[in-house]
Amino acid sequence: MMTIRAMQKKDVNDVHRIELLSFRSPWSKASIASELNNKFAHYLVAERDGKLIGYCGMWVLFDECHITNIAVDPAERRAGVGKSLLLAAMEVGDYYGATSMTLEVRETNRVARDMYRKFDFEQQGYRRRYYSDTGEGALLLWNVNIQRTVQNNTCILSDFALQWETFEKKGASE
Ligand SMILES: CC(C)(COP(=O)(O)OP(=O)(O)OC[C@H]1O[C@@H](n2cnc3c(N)ncnc32)[C@H](O)[C@@H]1OP(=O)(O)O)[C@@H](O)C(=O)NCCC(=O)NCCS
Repeated sequence: MMTIRAMQKKDVNDVHRIELLSFRSPWSKASIASELNNKFAHYLVAERDGKLIGYCGMWVLFDECHITNIAVDPAERRAGVGKSLLLAAMEVGDYYGATSMTLEVRETNRVARDMYRKFDFEQQGYRRRYYSDTGEGALLLWNVNIQRTVQNNTCILSDFALQWETFEKKGASE
């Protein structure tokens, strides 16, 4: 069974390894580590047999979740890990009070776009030449009702165990 839990300091090396394998302009290890101190950031990691196989980061700003990055170890792709992470991120975002989710995706990233479409994301904008490495544009996608998407995909919820106890109520006492 796959488990999904909050990222901890000990995960940063593994997350960075997958980041390097997945993105043309990867985040540095220091940038990933600094997210642990960002009270708006919530990073989820997926584990199977004790191995970290994917992650999804987001910032929850009021009622919106902004996905910063999502990636799965290339050796573990096409096995539902990406879908599980995205759905778990919606559950966690909902827990922190968000109702919608947004992200940017490269226009040529067919695989990710297909996944987002299945989770009710719709294009609501376009940023021309957003990615300086290739000059590609970014599609701005929104899911305006994450609770509904979770409810419509309950069959995926049984693919993973979400370790709720690892998610603190950040900022709750402030
Ligand atoms: C996008 C990514 C996270 C998907 O992870 P994954 O674990 O392989 O995804 P899943 O197995 O859960 O599949 C999710 C959906 O993505 C699409 N998909 C995944 N792999 C695909 C492929 N090789 N070809 C076409 N569609 C594909 C399908 O719609 C799939 O749904 P389905 O299984 O019902 O057909 C992964 O490909 C990745 O890490 N890519 C590099 C990083 C990246 O591009 N991140 C997104 C940035 S916006």
